Amino acid sequence: MEVLNVLNNNAIIIGVRKCGTRALLEMLCLHPAMQTAAREVHFFDRDDNYGKGLDWYRKRMPHSFRGQLTLEKTPSYFVTPEVPERIRAMNSSVKLLLIVREPVTRAISDYTQLRSHAATAASNAPQRSFEELALNSDGTVNSSYRPLSLSIYHTFIHRWLEVFSRNQILIVNGDRLIEDPVDQLQRIEQFLGLEPRIGRHNFYFNNTKGFYCLRNDTADKCLRETKGRRHPRVDPLVVSKLRKYFSEHNQRFYDIVGEDLGWPE
Ligand code: A3P
Repeated sequence: MEVLNVLNNNAIIIGVRKCGTRALLEMLCLHPAMQTAAREVHFFDRDDNYGKGLDWYRKRMPHSFRGQLTLEKTPSYFVTPEVPERIRAMNSSVKLLLIVREPVTRAISDYTQLRSHAATAASNAPQRSFEELALNSDGTVNSSYRPLSLSIYHTFIHRWLEVFSRNQILIVNGDRLIEDPVDQLQRIEQFLGLEPRIGRHNFYFNNTKGFYCLRNDTADKCLRETKGRRHPRVDPLVVSKLRKYFSEHNQRFYDIVGEDLGWPE
């Protein structure tokens, strides 16, 4: 069978971090026409890797056969300025998947991960609460706090739209992917030009994990415990202050992509 050049028929999950990028990749892997890279490749965002050339990238991507698509995910692509142009130089007709989540939830998820990594590094420094980090001492929003600034999606998306046409980018709703994965996956199959193959039979809800797990003829698995962490309780007044802060930014994102994701204000 002829092995195709990975660079002509690929799709990339470009971000956003903590919005369900791993779940999306694993779920799409259920499709028989999909070949996915097991690890984050970090080719386009890291100068040292990019400098190694396309052969380096090709070696890290799975082989595909005629009619198949290769898929990788590297969430930091979305926020790294050089990446859109570099991807275009590789394949100007690439299809891009951008998964987003309600920005305050995403920020809390990001904080939860950073806190968990700090705990693993056995740091003795007292851990600061999300509320302390997200707000300045005068009560205003600390917009330079990275988990918050990464949730301001419009500041990153415009660069992609300078390089790619809007119809090359599909916005995936990460909150809905948690609640009803099939609905999002069917949209993606259509976007990628794949036969509809993923359905309800591929998912079952795992009460212990609190998330859907995946199965097909060859696999049956839930995502690892680092996906679907318990979030700390955040003061509802802080949540509502942040939602207000984000409402204008969300509107700008909706205007740019031409879709209203209906996030609460
Ligand atoms: P939380 O751990 O905050 O719940 P990423 O892979 O981009 O880091 O995203 C991680 C998020 O994927 C998790 O964030 C979780 O909410 C979400 N997710 C979506 N579907 C999931 C699933 N079926 N199992 C586990 N996590 C899932």
